[in-house]
Amino acid sequence: MTIPVIIEQRRSIKKFTHREVTRAEIETLLEAAILAPNHRLTRPWRFYVLGPESRYAYGLALGERKARKLPDPVAGRALRETIASEHRDLPCMLAISVVENENPEIREEDYAAAMMAIENLALTAVALGLGTHIKTGGVMGDAASRAAVGVGDGERIVAIVNVGEPAELPSPRKREPATACTVWRP
Ligand SMILES: Cc1cc2nc3c(=O)[nH]c(=O)nc-3n(C[C@H](O)[C@H](O)[C@H](O)COP(=O)(O)O)c2cc1C
Repeated sequence: MTIPVIIEQRRSIKKFTHREVTRAEIETLLEAAILAPNHRLTRPWRFYVLGPESRYAYGLALGERKARKLPDPVAGRALRETIASEHRDLPCMLAISVVENENPEIREEDYAAAMMAIENLALTAVALGLGTHIKTGGVMGDAASRAAVGVGDGERIVAIVNVGEPAELPSPRKREPATACTVWRP
C-alpha cells in the first residue's frame, strides 16, 4: 500500500473484532510513532499500553463524568459500569502523554510532535490491517484517569488511542476539498 492509499483508508474505528493485538504489533506501531519529527529531538512523548485493569479504571473515570450529568444516580452508576466494561473489553488501548516543558514555545512544539507521532501510529496501523480511534477530552486531566494511566508528574495526557482489527470499515467522513481552505499567494 502506498502512503496516499493508507491515508485514504484510515478511519476512526469505533467497533473492533475480538482479535488480539499482539505485543509485536504494538511495538511496531510505537516504533513508527517515535520516527515523527520532533524539534530539538526532545522525544517529548510517553506511551502507556493499558491492560484490562487500567482500561477499566480509565473507563470508570470517563463514566463518572458522564454519570454526573444524569439526574438518576442508579442510572448513573449503571452507565459508569457499562463504560468501564466497554473499555476493559477493548483489544488495545494506548495513552499518549507529553512531558511538559517549562518553555511555552517548546511545550507547543512538543505537543505538535506528539500528535504527529500519533498520526504515524494510526497510518502504520492501517498498513498492518488494524484500525485506530483517537480520543481526547477533559477526562484526560482528571486525577482518576491520570491514576488509571499511571502518568507521571509533569506529564500531560494528550490522547487515548484505541487499536484493534476493525469490525467494519465506516464510510469516509465527508470533507471539503483542500482548495476550499487554501490560498495561493503571488
Ligand atoms: C486530536 C483528535 C481528537 C479526537 N477526539 C475524539 C474524541 O474525543 N471522541 C471521538 O469520538 N472522536 C475523536 N476524534 C476522532 C474524530 O472525530 C475523527 O477523526 C473525525 O470524525 C473524522 O473521522 P475519520 O477519522 O474517520 O476520518 C479525534 C480526532 C483527533 C485528531
